[in-house]
Amino acid sequence: MATIFVSGAHMPRTLERLAEVARGHDVIFGPGGLGAAEWREAAPRVDALLASVRDRVDDAVLAEAPRLKLVANVAVGVDNVDVAACRARGVVVTNTPGVLTEATADLAFALVLAACRRVAEGDRLVRAGGWTGFAHDLLLGRSVHGATLGILGLGRIGQAVARRARGFGMHILYHQRTPLPDGLARALGATFVSTLDELCANVDILSIHSPLTAETRGLFDARRLALFRRGAVLVNTSRGPIVDEAALANALREGPLAAAGIDVFEAEPKVHPALLACENAVLTPHIGSAEATTRAAMADMAVENLRRVLAGEPPLSAV
Ligand code: DGY
Repeated sequence: MATIFVSGAHMPRTLERLAEVARGHDVIFGPGGLGAAEWREAAPRVDALLASVRDRVDDAVLAEAPRLKLVANVAVGVDNVDVAACRARGVVVTNTPGVLTEATADLAFALVLAACRRVAEGDRLVRAGGWTGFAHDLLLGRSVHGATLGILGLGRIGQAVARRARGFGMHILYHQRTPLPDGLARALGATFVSTLDELCANVDILSIHSPLTAETRGLFDARRLALFRRGAVLVNTSRGPIVDEAALANALREGPLAAAGIDVFEAEPKVHPALLACENAVLTPHIGSAEATTRAAMADMAVENLRRVLAGEPPLSAV
């Protein structure tokens, strides 16, 4: 019999699936996460941890759980888990790739449209009773159709964004460490740019689809944000710490950025006050994968990873 610790609040679907696979095992619920008393009490006997992006699974947490064999993250991103420390202790880490690609690309594109066409500003104006009637110069935005879109990271989600962009007649440039095979890039209509600086300087809209790593943390700092064209738009649905929020707020206030669409933040759920003050930023609360069938598929995948590891089978998606 294994002990499974379920950290934080999960959806009913996850718990139903868990109940199916956890028969014969001991399941402990820790709604307060890894900082709370339930975890401290249970940690010495925990074999498997069902975690979410809110959990920091670092070496100190691992030291509390010497029997731990698995961290099943209900997310594709694993920057909340110290994967190297897990590896050193023989702990398997799994994630949920693939199943949230289209939902996240949908939200990225929603933010592109909302930021460019000032949708949130318009909504606030109408609700506040400040709309005095049609005006030729009211909330003039920028065109999405025909614009040049830059994609940082043309992986699964970046490619799904590129497919949407083609439907909008956009020109697509991309940057990542290694260019895609020619045929794939051509099929997406995406042209490789060899440096991120060059990408920033040559696009109207830039969408970030890169994991958070030591190399990508703080990638969009004041220097880099200053490279954008005047009137450019930045969208981030990947991880908050890739963008320096204070520098972003400054670039939105003073230029060159006209707008931003931001779903992820440096210190969630806190948002830098200067960014909150930017009317030209559309801010959403980390909802890239928040679509019912997607979240159900993520739950299924995480629990199946758990079942497999406990049964001594290879998981669907080991990191
Ligand atoms: C992920 O999966 O990494 C998202 O950020 C949360 O769904």
